[in-house]
Order: sequence, then C-alpha cells, then structure tokens
Amino acid sequence: MSGLIRLRSFIQAMTRLADTGTDERRWLDEGADLLRGLVAQDDWLPAEMAEAGPTYRQYLLHCDPAERFCVVSFVWGPGQRTPVHNHTVWGLVGMLRGEEVSTEMRPGAPMRPGQVDRLRPGEVVAVSADTYDIHVVENAFADRVSISIHCYGGNIGAIPRSVFDPTTGAARPFTSGYHNRAVPNLWDRSRELAA
Ligand SMILES: [Fe+2]
Repeated sequence: MSGLIRLRSFIQAMTRLADTGTDERRWLDEGADLLRGLVAQDDWLPAEMAEAGPTYRQYLLHCDPAERFCVVSFVWGPGQRTPVHNHTVWGLVGMLRGEEVSTEMRPGAPMRPGQVDRLRPGEVVAVSADTYDIHVVENAFADRVSISIHCYGGNIGAIPRSVFDPTTGAARPFTSGYHNRAVPNLWDRSRELAA
C-alpha cells in the first residue's frame, strides 16, 4: 500500500471508528493507533500539501461529512511557530517529517509553560481538555521543513477558538481556516484497477 491509498484507508478506518458512536477516550486510544500507522510511512502526502510558506500552513486533507473529525497536514517552514492557542475539541498530532515541539501554556499573567513534548517521525501525541488544551507549537529546526498530520474532533478550521497573549493571558477570537481550496482526490481508483 502506498500513496493516496494509505490516506484513504486511514480515513475509512477513522470513519468506521466515528460510526461506533465514539467517545473521546476511544478516539485518543484507537484513533492514535490509526494515526501512528499512517505516519509510520512518509510516502503518501501529496507534494502540494507539503509546501511551506511565509507562515506555517494548514492543508485540509479530509473532513468527515458529518464534521465528526478532520485530517490536516501542518507544514512548518524553518523556525516557524503558532501563536498560543486552544482547540476546544480532542486532537491527535502525528509527526511525519522533521520534528516539532509542543509546549503546554497554563493560564496566568504571564502564562506559564507546562508539559513539553518533542515529536519525532512516527510519534503521536494528544491534546484534550482532560490533559491540556492550550499550547504553542514550533518547528524544532531552524534550517528545514517539518510536517505533522493532525486529526481533531470536528472541522477544526471552522471552529471558533482563541489565541492568547502569553504576557497578559488575554484571549482573542480565532478561527484558523485552511490554506488549500481543494482536497486530495481519494476516489479515482482507475489507476489502481489498471495496475
Ligand atoms: Fe494546536
């Protein structure tokens, strides 16, 4: 299995998990296992969903039609980082290429750093209101692109969220959107059938 077949199989397995009426704990356990399987190989992400830009980019790879989950490619240019932000839904982060550092930020003025996770290729971590929901994420490298694959418990680009001023702790409304206007075509099986 290679290329988009790998992504399609992952999305099909995630959809089957959603169809079981999944609670968050199962997403964070079984969804994490599925994502670990997806990021174990780096041969499937379309090149146009792996391009870095002047700021970090979020490419939507798939959104469940009922918006129960989504799959996003995060592409970090050298040294790029997010603002301090929250999610409001569960999230899974799997490292595909390069490395990134996620630092939990605890409320206060100033906000204080908490748990720090350094992610290497193949590794998966979760964010959740039950563990931590506010963090800052950055490319661990100043000289190369890093890419992680994220899944969230909703259509993350359209969910009203917050970014925070780390000095004052003040929140400001934030809705991330997506960089791309078209998602990968997972459904043209003609080449697979011809092969
Ligand atoms: Fe995040």
